[in-house]
Amino acid sequence: MRNLAAIVLAAGKGTRMRSDRPKVLHPILGKPMLEHVLEAVGGLKPSVLYVVLGHEQAVVKETLAQRGWAKKLHWVSQVPQRGTGHAVDQVRKNLKSFSGEVLVVCGDTPLLKSATLKSLLADHRHAGRSCTVLTAEVPQPRGYGRIVRDAQGRFLKIVEDLDASPQQQAIHEINSGTYCFRLPALWKALARVKPTNKKGEYYLTDVVEILSGAGQAVGAYKVENFQEIRGVNDRQELSQMTRLLQQETLEELMKSGVTIWDPGSTVIEQTVEIERDTEILPGTILLGATRVAGRCRLGPYSVIQDSFIGAGCEVRFSWLTQAHLEANVKVGPFSHLRPMAHLAQGARVGNFSEIKNAKIGKGSKVNHLSYIGDSALAEHVNIGAGTITCNYDGHKKYKTVIGPEVFVGSNVNLVAPVTIGARAFIAAGSTITEDVPERKLAIARCRQVIKDRG
Ligand code: UD1
Ligand code: CA
Repeated sequence: MRNLAAIVLAAGKGTRMRSDRPKVLHPILGKPMLEHVLEAVGGLKPSVLYVVLGHEQAVVKETLAQRGWAKKLHWVSQVPQRGTGHAVDQVRKNLKSFSGEVLVVCGDTPLLKSATLKSLLADHRHAGRSCTVLTAEVPQPRGYGRIVRDAQGRFLKIVEDLDASPQQQAIHEINSGTYCFRLPALWKALARVKPTNKKGEYYLTDVVEILSGAGQAVGAYKVENFQEIRGVNDRQELSQMTRLLQQETLEELMKSGVTIWDPGSTVIEQTVEIERDTEILPGTILLGATRVAGRCRLGPYSVIQDSFIGAGCEVRFSWLTQAHLEANVKVGPFSHLRPMAHLAQGARVGNFSEIKNAKIGKGSKVNHLSYIGDSALAEHVNIGAGTITCNYDGHKKYKTVIGPEVFVGSNVNLVAPVTIGARAFIAAGSTITEDVPERKLAIARCRQVIKDRG
């Protein structure tokens, strides 16, 4: 949007979080809190976006840069942090020649929507004000700045919770911490802000009274859904915001045709994609870049991270990380699929089996108590209960290759590197240390002896 600058305030320490991690980096559904805010602000396509950093700024910069934000914004440093007014003032020199509006948003309001910011800006421009504050009526206004109006309902000023009289504390309309200002009016008013309050800080909120006192138009734009503007100051609010955002994400999925048995016990990050007619059972956690095709049944009690799940798959009581499942694969109960586990169409990995960096061919089965690592299994292989690929000698990893329709009996050790030819049969209890040719039977165990008990 032309003539629109945006400033996101993220320099504060977040003392109430009691954390070594900067507050704005605390994740909500897989993304740092600040990133949710940046996405909402980014939705307006401002001509320039500034993020004010201070406390632990190197960590914040690095995290956001890793997540691809470095080119989309400018950092401004605020050291020491002397309040929200002081924070905004740090951007003054960058915006010296800018004329138009500036949108100011706090980095700790992760539920804010682009659509709301657009409406705020439209209202601000339409009314031709110097300042418009995004406000809300909330049931529990404690901790927020209050919107003070005169007898005619005209917006006079914002009073912080700490500085509010008992009468003002009873006001339920609060400041969201999101504002539109006209430039350069904001800079003139900021220059007059004094730290005469309980915290001894330069409050951005004081600008309202200064502007209205100078005869400039100030106003409030009220959001309908107060949840959207809630700020995160402590861990309790963090969990409440997570729950709210989770609810929204699950509702979107349900609208798109995904069944979720028990939203209260389901965690699905916003980055996850799921196609219609998939069912999510209770206690299921889907994370990161996971993509799920249609007609799957996931859960109960499964964690799936950064994985691809093809159509019609079933995953029960299992843990999957960077796994790839083709269509109609069955996993679990109690399977562990580690990075680079690739299960081809119709494959089956069952009870207490672990797969790592291995392809399990079409229709092949690893049903019970097995470890398959660094392996390539062709189609229709049967792996008996308790089979182990011995892939590691303490220094290096070695590969096991198993041809099509091989039958591996129970309790077999395959000491890699080793290749089993097509249709070979490995007798139960064997420890295989050499390659087995196609269609042969390999027995590598002691012959049973029967002795008198005496
Ligand atoms: C602020 C508002 C309050 C509003 C509430 C909404 C002020 C004085 N008060 O209070 O009216 O109801 O937000 O959530 O503005 N920050 C800086 N530099 C600083 C101080 C803060 O960048 O020197 C940043 C913080 O990182 C945070 C944001 O500004 O992202 C808000 O600061 P915070 O201390 O949380 O303000 P509140 O007390 O919540
Ligand atoms: Ca806050």
